[in-house]
Amino acid sequence: MANTILVGAQWGDEGKGKIIDVLTEDADIVVRYAGGNNAGHTVFIGRQKYILHLIPSGILRKNKLCVIGNGVVADPVSLVGEIQGLRKLGVKVGDNLVVSETAHVVLPYHRELDAQREVLKGRQKIGTTKRGIGPAYGDKAARVGLRMSDLVNPERLREKLSARIKENNAVLKSLGAKPLSCEKVFAEYNAAGKYLKPFVANTVVLLHEAMRRGKDLLFEGAQGTFLDIDHGTYPFVTSSNTTAGGACTGSGVPPHRMDRVVGVMKAYTTRVGEGPLPTENAEISDLLHSMGREFGATTGRPRRCGWFDSVAVRHAAMVNGIDGLAVTNLDGLDTVETIKVCVAYRRGRAHYDFVPSDAQVLAECEPVYVEFEGWRTPTSKAKSWKQLPSRTRAYLKALAELSNAKLFIASVGPARAQTIFV
Ligand code: GDP
Ligand code: IMO
Ligand code: MG
Repeated sequence: MANTILVGAQWGDEGKGKIIDVLTEDADIVVRYAGGNNAGHTVFIGRQKYILHLIPSGILRKNKLCVIGNGVVADPVSLVGEIQGLRKLGVKVGDNLVVSETAHVVLPYHRELDAQREVLKGRQKIGTTKRGIGPAYGDKAARVGLRMSDLVNPERLREKLSARIKENNAVLKSLGAKPLSCEKVFAEYNAAGKYLKPFVANTVVLLHEAMRRGKDLLFEGAQGTFLDIDHGTYPFVTSSNTTAGGACTGSGVPPHRMDRVVGVMKAYTTRVGEGPLPTENAEISDLLHSMGREFGATTGRPRRCGWFDSVAVRHAAMVNGIDGLAVTNLDGLDTVETIKVCVAYRRGRAHYDFVPSDAQVLAECEPVYVEFEGWRTPTSKAKSWKQLPSRTRAYLKALAELSNAKLFIASVGPARAQTIFV
């Protein structure tokens, strides 16, 4: 019996979806607590590939309750599309999905502003997913956002929308963008609200009642530690607290009810979008892309790739309180002759064994590497720790030691069965 928070320990896309799917077997409820449909969590069941954006990956297992918590920003039209898409694939979505009535709603002006601000920034752009995430969280903090409880109440929706669209149209016009029609937006979002109404409830009370009945909760983090609005490489971050603390604020479950934190990381590093990535490396990027790997699950953009950065993951272990590491995509390194791991940063004469909080300083850091001899053996069929090549085991042990966290899972392929509990 345990409540588990699962977070990304790098820059997102660590394989959280796959690990969530595996861990859901032992959970009763899976809770998304932050982010929106900027996330793309991939799960393979047999040959079928599912990419989840807003709905917790637990939806793919029978008899599990999935909760979209108050910390999430939900684009209702996209959520309706995701529900319908899953139903088409034969996945049940009904009373197994509950959406917080206080989750904020992403609206068309958020998406438009997201896009326009990126254009304005020019070369300084963040490389957002253009899903309106930043402006939606901005409205939440400015206390002018609409929440799910507003969306499902047509009169309130009309009133709030017309005020917000009026203000946002003035901004959009000043940016040279087309203004939005309140009637059109109302019609589309009111329809989505009607569709979603049966899913909307007080999820804080629901989660506490479930815990009283002894249910086990699994918190599905989105994005990664270095995309966290406070702890990431600001301003090249997303707009929510993606780290473990976000699971409390984003769900209403207090810190002392959390039992463990699992940190998911790749055996190397990837990042989509702009911002510093100290270990970025063309050789490993080319290798992974040539294998058809490391293209974004949400936007299809090629991910930037680099060697494993233990400075970053050690920092993530500290900030999140990671109890167990899940290392994914180990098989991506199967053909590499010499594997590099970053153990410190150098910048001029300065030496860092932590991640400097200034993104400009981080961008100027050079990685200090140690080298590991590659195992050059396919690992994807390994079923146990013992079946992994000894060099792979040595690499994994070194990653855990350098990251200051215990090894929990090694993943050697996208499928459920390709998971080794250490
Ligand atoms: P998430 O956002 O953290 O859920 O990760 P994504 O789904 O965006 O990206 C991770 C990618 O790695 C997906 O394509 C997964 O199917 C894939 N994946 C996860 N674990 C493994 C693994 O151990 N080996 C391989 N080959 N692929 C993996
Ligand atoms: P999952 O949950 C990887 C990145 C974007 C951009 C920055 C800000 O699949 O790991 P945003 O649209 O949030 O304002 O973009 O954050 N980003 C992600 N990168 N995985 C994600 O989610 C991401 N969600 C946002 O590429 O650099
Ligand atoms: Mg992803």
